[in-house]
This record gives sequence, structure tokens and C-alpha cells, in this order.
Amino acid sequence: MAEPTDRPTSRGPIDFTVETLGPCTVDSPLAPRLQARRTTHHYIDETDRVLFDDTLSKVTRRAAKTNGELEELPSLEPTGPRKKIFFDPSKTRVGIVTCGGLCPGINNVIRGLVSELTTHYGVRRIYGFKNGYQGFIPRYGHDVVDLTPESVSGIDGEGGTILGTSRGQQDATEVVDCLERMGIGVLFVIGGDGTMRGAQKIAAEIKARDLKIAVVGIPKTIDNDIPFIDQSFGFQSAFSEASRSIRSAKVEARTAPNGVSVVKLMGRHSGFIACYAALAQNDADFVLIPEVPFTLEGPGGFLERLREKVATQGHALVVAAEGAGQELFEDNGLQDASGNKKLQDVGILLRQAIADDFAQRGIELNMRYIDPSYVIRSVPANPYDAVYCIRLAHAAVHAAMAGRTNMVVGRWRRRFVHIPIGLAVSARNQVDPHGDLWWSVLEATGQPWSFGEFSAEQVTAFGGQ
Ligand code: F6P
Repeated sequence: MAEPTDRPTSRGPIDFTVETLGPCTVDSPLAPRLQARRTTHHYIDETDRVLFDDTLSKVTRRAAKTNGELEELPSLEPTGPRKKIFFDPSKTRVGIVTCGGLCPGINNVIRGLVSELTTHYGVRRIYGFKNGYQGFIPRYGHDVVDLTPESVSGIDGEGGTILGTSRGQQDATEVVDCLERMGIGVLFVIGGDGTMRGAQKIAAEIKARDLKIAVVGIPKTIDNDIPFIDQSFGFQSAFSEASRSIRSAKVEARTAPNGVSVVKLMGRHSGFIACYAALAQNDADFVLIPEVPFTLEGPGGFLERLREKVATQGHALVVAAEGAGQELFEDNGLQDASGNKKLQDVGILLRQAIADDFAQRGIELNMRYIDPSYVIRSVPANPYDAVYCIRLAHAAVHAAMAGRTNMVVGRWRRRFVHIPIGLAVSARNQVDPHGDLWWSVLEATGQPWSFGEFSAEQVTAFGGQ
């Protein structure tokens, strides 16, 4: 499938250096099996690097700046097992925590971590911290659970997370106090951007105390808004589920006179779910995303285009990301526990505006409003995401055992790589209104580039908000 990273995230020199806890002096239990491996098109040696840029023009431009020194080109460290590692696995205690909103595949990651740590590295103690970062804080009184290959067997068939989750960071000093008390050497954090900011603070506190505790993240979000990775796990399962709502909405719209269906999908600041679901179930006539502002009223506005579509086709189907059209509201200044802006309900706004518009003109309307909401993120991972999750989990274990810290694992241009957390939280991956993905949506729907009087420059400027 096409890569869902659409917007170039690099602006200027990028430091891809991954922190390490110290030299790797312990023989990896995997070392004997690694002897037979040879570098091929599909396998990069641990000393090699993955290029950040993938077009000739970008590489040429960068190479000109580095006087042709190819080693200076921006590049990322590949994941994978190292022959020498930092931790002695038999004496290393590991913690796993899952934070933020749900996402398909979290249990797959947990199981992948536990089985790789135990089966291949011989780690004996793995603790699951319950309910996100709260799990580290004594006053919440949450249990800690022992994770073993037996206890995680079969969990990957279920959505959600066996560890529970919560939004919001906790005081990093209290978290690190807990890690010290429990003698944890490696902490795996599964979460979105807010969670990774929390992990960054924990890693900083660990460093300030001069402790040898690795913090490795596995980025999770159905919104697919984490930069420097092709795609976040669970995204494909979520948009696949969302496409089922679009299919139903189409049936409803076309079987009623002047049927108009509106499907509202998650996607706070990035419209990837809306775009991919609409392309997967190629029935939408309009896709509205946060990155492309629109007007409702007036010539070329959304309502005029909708009326035209209903007049010519007899029905219409609108897919709106929840973050679309926020420019149509007064800012309420509210935030959730993760520090995310609380969005206003564009679905309800559209439903009302369409109903009023048709009523004012005396046009018959059969409106269907579908908001699958949490349904799309609580499903189990589909086979594609399941594969992705287990590979991310393996990569995270190899990284942590080799003493890498303050980093996340991800896939960049189809190669698995280590990314400093600082970079993973430095920006937001968004649909590029001038990029290939939005172009595909415009081709599939036939809708104009935007509704209303927005210039290309205004949309570009807006897209970065
Ligand atoms: O962060 C991912 C996400 O799925 C957003 O698209 C959505 O706005 C949000 O979670 C809702 O989650 P919650 O209700 O748990 O805050």
C-alpha cells in the first residue's frame, strides 16, 4: 500500500543521533544466530544507515551542502539485533506501560515484547504497569502485573490493552522513583505524542540521576500523526473499520430521495483516517479534513456544492474528519488531560447546516448521520497491523537491550529504524494539501480542491497549524 506519510517533515538539518546508555559489552544470546546473516537488499547491517531522503533531487541538494560527503547526509540507525548488548538479560527487569487513547494492535505489541524478551533474550521479570502513567504513582494504588509468555498468550486477538490506559502525564520524578524502587532496567512505553513527551521527561530524569535505565517507545495513534514514521500501527485496522461505515452510509444515501449521509471519523488534526477510509470504500463525494479549511455558505462553499451533487446524482455522501472545519467555530480554549485541544463537533454542525440549507430552499432531504467514533479504534489489529506490531515489538526489544534510550522505533521508507523521541514529538504528520494523497482523494471524489475562497497559500499556511 502507499505510504501514508504525505507531508515532508524535514526543515533544515536534523539530528538523528540516538542516545545510548553506554558501551555494549555483553554477548547477545542472539549472536550465534546472527553470524549467518549477510547484508542484502532486505537486511541492513547494524553499522549501516537508512537514508532520510528518497528522491534524487533532495539527495543532490543535500550532497551539495555537504561538499559531496555522503556520510553527512541525514540518515537513521537501523533496528535489529546487535551482536553485543548493554544489558545482561538474566539480571534485567523490564516494565511495559500503555497510555493514551486506544488503538488496534496494542496487545500485539505487548505480546511481541514479552515473547521476544523471554524467549530470545532470557529476561525473567517483566512488569506491566496498569492504566498508563498512573501505574507508577503510589497514590493511585494500581496493581503491577507479571507478564509472561503464558499470561500474554492469545491477547493479540483482542482490541484494547490488557494493561488498561489513561490520558495525561505524571510527575517524571515520581515515575523514576518507582522505576528505581523496582529495579527496572528497561521501560517500554506504548503511546501517542503526549505519552512520548512524558517518556522524554522520564528519560531526562533518568539521565539527571545518572541511572542506567533505557526508555524505548512504540508510537501508537490511529490518527497517524507522528512524524518520521511511514505509518503508525493500528492505523490500517482503524481506517478499514471506518470504511465499513462509509459503505453503510452509501447504501442509506442512495436508497432515499435526496439522501445525504454524513460520516464523522476520528482524526483530530490529521485527516489520514478520513482520506484512507474514503479511498478504501470509494463512495464519498466529499471528504473534509483538518488540513484544508472550507466555508459553508456562499458561492463555491460546501453547501452549494452539496446541493449541486444531490441535484445531479440524487444523493451525496460526506466524510468528515472530526478536526475538519474548526475554523468555523469560536475557539473554546479547552484541552483534554493529554493537553490536546478539545474539538468542537463538526459532524453536528454539518448535520444542522445541511438540514437548514435544504429546508430554507424547500428541497426534500433524507439525512443520515453516522459517527462510528470509538468503534474504529477498539477493534483488534488486522493481519497487516498484526505483522507490523510484532516487528515493531522485536525492534524495540533489540534497541533497548543494546542500551538505546530516549527513542522510538518506527518504519521509514519501509525500513525499521530508531528515531530520537525528541524528533518524534517535534512536529505533527499531516496530510499535505498539495501532496499525492489529497490529490488521490480529489480524483476519487471529484470534489474541488477546497470549498470557498481559500488561496493555495492560505491552505498551506493553515495546514501547518
Ligand atoms: O488520539 C487519537 C484519537 O483517536 C483522536 O482521533 C480522537 O480525537 C481521540 O483519540 C479521542 O479519544 P478520547 O476520547 O480517548 O480522548
